[in-house]
Amino acid sequence: MSARHLLVTGGAGFIGSAFVHHVIERTEDTVTVLDKLTYAGHRASLEDLPASRVRLVVGDVADAAVVDPLVASADAVVHFAAESHNDNSLHDPGPFLQSNLIGTFTLLEAVRRHGTRFHHISTDEVYGDLALDTPERFTEFTPYNPSSPYSATKAGSDLLVRAWVRSFGVAATISNCSNNYGPRQHVEKFIPRQITNLIDGIRPRLYGAGLNVRDWIHAEDHSSAVLRILEAGEIGRTYLIGADGEKNNKQVVELILTMMGRDSDDYDHVADRPGHDLRYAIDAAPLRDELQWSPRFRDFEAGLAATILWYRENEDWWRPQKAATEAKYQAVGQ
Ligand code: NAD
Ligand code: DAU
Repeated sequence: MSARHLLVTGGAGFIGSAFVHHVIERTEDTVTVLDKLTYAGHRASLEDLPASRVRLVVGDVADAAVVDPLVASADAVVHFAAESHNDNSLHDPGPFLQSNLIGTFTLLEAVRRHGTRFHHISTDEVYGDLALDTPERFTEFTPYNPSSPYSATKAGSDLLVRAWVRSFGVAATISNCSNNYGPRQHVEKFIPRQITNLIDGIRPRLYGAGLNVRDWIHAEDHSSAVLRILEAGEIGRTYLIGADGEKNNKQVVELILTMMGRDSDDYDHVADRPGHDLRYAIDAAPLRDELQWSPRFRDFEAGLAATILWYRENEDWWRPQKAATEAKYQAVGQ
């Protein structure tokens, strides 16, 4: 395939930056990142990439004047930009509606004007949650049933994409992925929060009983799946991305404690998240069978060990956010 020019929104965030690294390593493509650099965006996450192939434009996906010329000069748009944290959406939903709904609408109008290929990044949370004691997993046909303001705005953005495909013939695909882990994830999220707490001598914090199940996938595997969908996905189709990584939060926190040389019960239970989804699980069979994708990180413990090492070695990256993040949690008893 000849080199393309990709517009990657949210490319200074956790998964967006993993995707840009992946594209630069695996293709000849060039990339423009459009990122507002909110509290969750890090210039440093793109610093080691070649300036000849990656350019960062600081701007808002909801700003049509910024978006339009960037879309006009791109061969494809990969849309990661979003407010992404459930807990924040429970305390202040406004930015989620603006970035996730108006932002996606603004991009859809631009790709409609310019006839540009669009890939929309979404989440398994649009489907709500599953019971703990069933073998059931999410598929592309599971009805939408989001629980939090965050997941409701992601569900709304997915439906906008579907409507723009059907009504306007926009050439779009959607992917709904499970929980990601890996380097460069904000310290507000579960795994990096507990790793950096332990580095700082703070006991990890488990919401409620800790029996909630998440289906973990490494951000690099999410990236390889998105690239595969961009290259070979069927227009109008939704692909679920997951790597059979179900674990409950108690298991994950105990693993982190053990791997960091502490007793496995050295953590605190704190107030539960309101409306806390119980279990997510992805059936990624169509992605594996039709697009021949498979994950590289099959060993969660090995991926977690490498992630712990990354946070130990990259304190400069996460330290500036740590105190303010913990203060926010403390204010709500978490
Ligand atoms: P993140 O919070 O780490 O990064 C989001 C990025 O988007 C940041 O760089 C931020 O500055 C940027 N951004 C936010 N609002 C913007 C706006 N209005 N204009 C331009 N840039 C803006 O998030 P993440 O965890 O990397 O998630 C990226 C995408 O993947 C999101 O769409 C999220 O819904 C989806 N997703 C995340 C996960 C996960 O486990 N983290 C799983 C499935 C899907
Ligand atoms: O499923 C995909 C989703 O995964 C993405 O759409 C979201 O953007 C991403 O943030 C993530 O959502 P979660 O709410 O599952 O992730 P979070 O890291 O916030 O929490 C993971 C689990 O850990 C969840 O059950 C809540 C729990 N938790 C979280 C924190 C921060 C704790 O027990 N203690 C904590 O301190």
